[in-house]
Amino acid sequence: MAPVLNVGIVGTGIFARDRHLPSYQEYPNDFKVVAAFNRTKSKAQEFAKIAGIPDDKVYDNLDEIMNDKNVSFIDALLPAQFNLSAVKKAIEVNKPILLEKPIAATMAQAREIVQLSDASDLPIAIAENWLYLTCIKLALKQLERIGPIVAFTHNSTGPFVSTNKYLATSWRQNPEHIGGFLSDGGVHQLALVTALLGEFESVSALTKQVRPESGADDIVFSTVKMRDNNVIGSFTYGSAFGATEKSVFLKIYGKNGTVTVELSDKTQPLVKVRIGDSIENAGKEEIFQVEKDESFGVNPEFLNFHEAVSKNDKSLIKSSPRATFHHLACVAAFLESSANNGKNVSVETI
Ligand SMILES: NC(=O)c1ccc[n+]([C@@H]2O[C@H](COP(=O)([O-])OP(=O)(O)OC[C@H]3O[C@@H](n4cnc5c(N)ncnc54)[C@H](OP(=O)(O)O)[C@@H]3O)[C@@H](O)[C@H]2O)c1
Repeated sequence: MAPVLNVGIVGTGIFARDRHLPSYQEYPNDFKVVAAFNRTKSKAQEFAKIAGIPDDKVYDNLDEIMNDKNVSFIDALLPAQFNLSAVKKAIEVNKPILLEKPIAATMAQAREIVQLSDASDLPIAIAENWLYLTCIKLALKQLERIGPIVAFTHNSTGPFVSTNKYLATSWRQNPEHIGGFLSDGGVHQLALVTALLGEFESVSALTKQVRPESGADDIVFSTVKMRDNNVIGSFTYGSAFGATEKSVFLKIYGKNGTVTVELSDKTQPLVKVRIGDSIENAGKEEIFQVEKDESFGVNPEFLNFHEAVSKNDKSLIKSSPRATFHHLACVAAFLESSANNGKNVSVETI
């Protein structure tokens, strides 16, 4: 039987409390949250009460929790500019670490994390959760029916939500991470698109800041050329608009039909398929219900990390620093392109 891994939480904010802790608690045979550290200690103490962590395991600094021999791995939920120093410390004490997305605040930091991770045997993962969405496996299977793939449209747009609890965090309103909301949320969407279609090679993009609260540009409209497969597409992302319906879909066009991943209703993702090489030969729309996952990929992501840690095999990790580097690199390319009036920009590789 796989061991129960003891989790040390670093950064006991909203997402630690509302998503990570409940997800760990769903798997008591795999995880036990045993220690916590937070910059503001009172918040770690409140978190400890809910999580059942004893007082002497609420630490005063990062070194203490990293050095706790009873902690099997660190789960860090921090503003992205702190990820690099957390990785360095974890490697120093030989402790596996899961970090929340985006991989880093800058491309230079992201590059350093990938290099450090490549040089170490430790399991290190970036939690982007969308890489683990249940719709991906289903959609990949359907894509085999419509090939060759020619193009795609990814659209994720929605109304501004002024009461959004995440929006109120000061580090989001004054972002040190490139792209602000475009990297904070956009890496999820990029994880989905690249999981189905491969890497972006180059982009032409225009970005814009709609809301002062966003602290940086908060919408992107782009065209994309994919690497290796001749596919072209468009990538649109932003939830800073006036009243409109939430519309999240990825439509993939092949020579023999289309596959659409429909995520507008998060509680009921769908994969829709039309087969046929022309209107004359078009089949009926087929609609596939996606297996429900209320954690939206977080649970399978944690189980994937559990397997990598318990087998001490970092190659099992899907959301590796190298894979997630690409998602931040796409955001960096959007920003560079927009700063140059939509000029075509190659996406940085590593
Ligand atoms: N995968 C997803 O869908 C998803 C969703 C939401 C968030 N997240 C990620 O989860 C992480 C936390 O986000 P959140 O929404 O929970 O925000 P949050 O509530 O503001 O949590 C941020 C945490 O970082 C700490 N922190 C802030 N500035 C710090 C500093 N200068 N030094 C040390 N610690 C500092 C905060 O400590 P204080 O309590 O002292 O401020 C807090 O514990 C982020 O990486 C975010 O990207 C992921």
